Amino acid sequence: MKALILSGGKGTRLRPITYTGAKQLVPVANKPILFYTIEAVMAAGIHDIGIVVGETREEVRAAVGKGERWGVKITYIQQDAPLGLAHAVKISEDFIQKDSFVMYLGDNLIKDGITSFVDEYCKSDANAQILLAHVPNPQEFGVAQLKAGRVVKLIEKPKDPPTDLALVGVYMFDSTIFEAVNSITPSARGELEITDAIQYLVDHNYKVQSHIISGWWKDTGKLEDMLEANRIILDGMETSVEGEVDEESEIAGRVKIGKGTRIVNSCVRGPAIIGEDCLIENAFVGPYSSVNDRCIISASEIEHSIILEDSQILSIGSRLEDSLIGKNVKITKDSKKPKAYRMMVGDNSAISVV
Ligand code: DAU
Repeated sequence: MKALILSGGKGTRLRPITYTGAKQLVPVANKPILFYTIEAVMAAGIHDIGIVVGETREEVRAAVGKGERWGVKITYIQQDAPLGLAHAVKISEDFIQKDSFVMYLGDNLIKDGITSFVDEYCKSDANAQILLAHVPNPQEFGVAQLKAGRVVKLIEKPKDPPTDLALVGVYMFDSTIFEAVNSITPSARGELEITDAIQYLVDHNYKVQSHIISGWWKDTGKLEDMLEANRIILDGMETSVEGEVDEESEIAGRVKIGKGTRIVNSCVRGPAIIGEDCLIENAFVGPYSSVNDRCIISASEIEHSIILEDSQILSIGSRLEDSLIGKNVKITKDSKKPKAYRMMVGDNSAISVV
């Protein structure tokens, strides 16, 4: 069995972070989402992995490499434009050949992994297996309709969803999916939809089985989803302190502190993770914070936030909460007159001031 991980696309809902980087590489608990995906595939016993890449291919390649770190073989498949999930399957036929495969959307996180679903599919005689989850906002997903437990209809992001069963971004297929993706036509939004390809399988009497999952799953496309994913992963984390903590500082709860980091006269209250070579001084780092490598948090308070590498939060006066801060960002308070906000902010940013 092979795996196909989709890491192309545009990531419009996470702009401006995704202007300069792939959304699949935004870290949750200081680890890119894509790495959780690769690890889940590997844990399911699959070592031959194709990654579909688009315009952020160089960044994805630089982060993942050939897969040596995980002991897997990575093949990159170039998608020239994000023409849909079924298009990504179509261009991957040379890589998949006649094998069956699991397709995993590189921005989806499933807390308990995919091993049991892959095993279930391998033991069955189904041509495809889809995972479904009850959601409060089905209009934002592909939605499935079942009849006596059998999949009868799949609709992509319906305005008026017939059920609350969303398609999770993990699918298992045998090579009949290529007949489907080569037969369907683009949807109204101009994409070859995987939901239409699976509908083709249903309509042509191929066996499509479904599994309703009950564990935690998230499509991390939006800020709130990233913060929730960060919470869930930090909740399961073990304590480990490799950096230096001075006597004036207090570390409470589950906290991970990386090598070369110094905590000076500060309080870190877990669950929280601080990467390598950071300086936290005269500061409070509160629950559900992930601070990436080489950041400085000085005379400031942060909580329930994700801060990417090389950023600085300096003397800001009030607490930073519910935030996603990009790489190499500096947020500071200065005493220059006139007293005013001075900003250089990228397109599509969101800032709320108090
Ligand atoms: O998250 C589950 C949902 O994923 C399903 O319920 C939907 O049926 C399915 O269409 C998909 O919806 P999204 O709108 O979330 O898909 P998105 O455009 O975000 O793409 C999902 C991943 O696939 C993302 O990592 C980018 C990548 N991708 C996307 C497209 C359209 C590609 O690699 N190539 C593409 O052409």
